[in-house]
Amino acid sequence: MAKKTPVEWTRKHLLGLEDLSAGEITHLLDAAEKFLPYATGRTERPARKAAPQRLKGRTVLNLFCEDSTRTRTSFTLAAERLGARVVQFHAATSSLKKNETLLDTARNIEAMGLDAIVIRHPERGAPQTVAEAVNCSVLNAGDDAHEHPTQALLDFLAIRHKFGRLDGLTVAIVGDIRHSRVARSNLYGITKLGSRVIFVGPPLFLAGLGDIAAAVETSTDLDAILPECDAVMMLRVQFERHEGVALDLEDYKRGYQLTAKRLARAKPGAIVLHPGPINRGLEITNEVADGPQSVILHQVTCGVAVRMAALSLCIGALDRQRKSAKPSPLTPPLSRSTQRLSTGREGRGRKKRGLSREGRGRGKSSAGA
Ligand code: CP
Repeated sequence: MAKKTPVEWTRKHLLGLEDLSAGEITHLLDAAEKFLPYATGRTERPARKAAPQRLKGRTVLNLFCEDSTRTRTSFTLAAERLGARVVQFHAATSSLKKNETLLDTARNIEAMGLDAIVIRHPERGAPQTVAEAVNCSVLNAGDDAHEHPTQALLDFLAIRHKFGRLDGLTVAIVGDIRHSRVARSNLYGITKLGSRVIFVGPPLFLAGLGDIAAAVETSTDLDAILPECDAVMMLRVQFERHEGVALDLEDYKRGYQLTAKRLARAKPGAIVLHPGPINRGLEITNEVADGPQSVILHQVTCGVAVRMAALSLCIGALDRQRKSAKPSPLTPPLSRSTQRLSTGREGRGRKKRGLSREGRGRGKSSAGA
């Protein structure tokens, strides 16, 4: 059999999985696999060495404008285990509250010396816009209901760990699909690696899928789909995004809650995933969340390895670009549209590019995965 040519990683940013090739995703997963022994920080053998200090002397900014437990902690530990210093930015106590724009915030902190910005933001496209305005690497830690690439990558790693492959598997993603960036990134990524994805939920949560509606198989009947499933990924019902959505919780539980009885319909050896945070007793019962088929906590461990890989690959690509580039200004000149975002006089432009005042860390910013 012909040997596959290894893919070279050339991206300094990780903004989503939509644009990544199957080869790039596999490259990231293979790199993450190598970091897995360091992902818990525990040494199982006394002689085990610390993780390679690939980011020694580097500085990573966690720019979170939405709440997070797993992603912020995981990026922090990943960067620190590779030797980097991590600066935590908290939107609620920052000058965003004094009307400073997101781009001014990012560019000002970058002027203090940054290698990477990890950004979570309640508006779609904010990581991309920041990436266009700074010189350092930018990694998307979740933007609105758009993408959450490292979450999807950690899901793939957990699934690959269990089955040894991703091709030929059937993965049901169940629940509040409409408001889920996790579902979207999973769809973009895992189908390129040969898995079949089925979005399952009530019509209410399968509506409004926009550009991906035509590309995805959907079902409103979880019980009918389960016998085909190798993996069942339950999603959190995202009440904070439910403006104008009337959900009957008892009805929802009857149709879509993953119970032990229901899970017994899936293929033998099927695994259960959930990105967290979990609404226990709503989308999933305690018995299943904590049961033998659940890989939920293993997902979290995989997350540290994936973020170690993502940070070291992106900063590695940044280094190569910095070496080969001509001397450049400290921060890149802003394009006209980005300039408007930076002055705070952007009006329609700001709305169009998805950086309204709410996106500056005020308003509804309690969403998680
Ligand atoms: N899965 C996830 O993104 O969790 P957090 O919202 O806690 O970061």
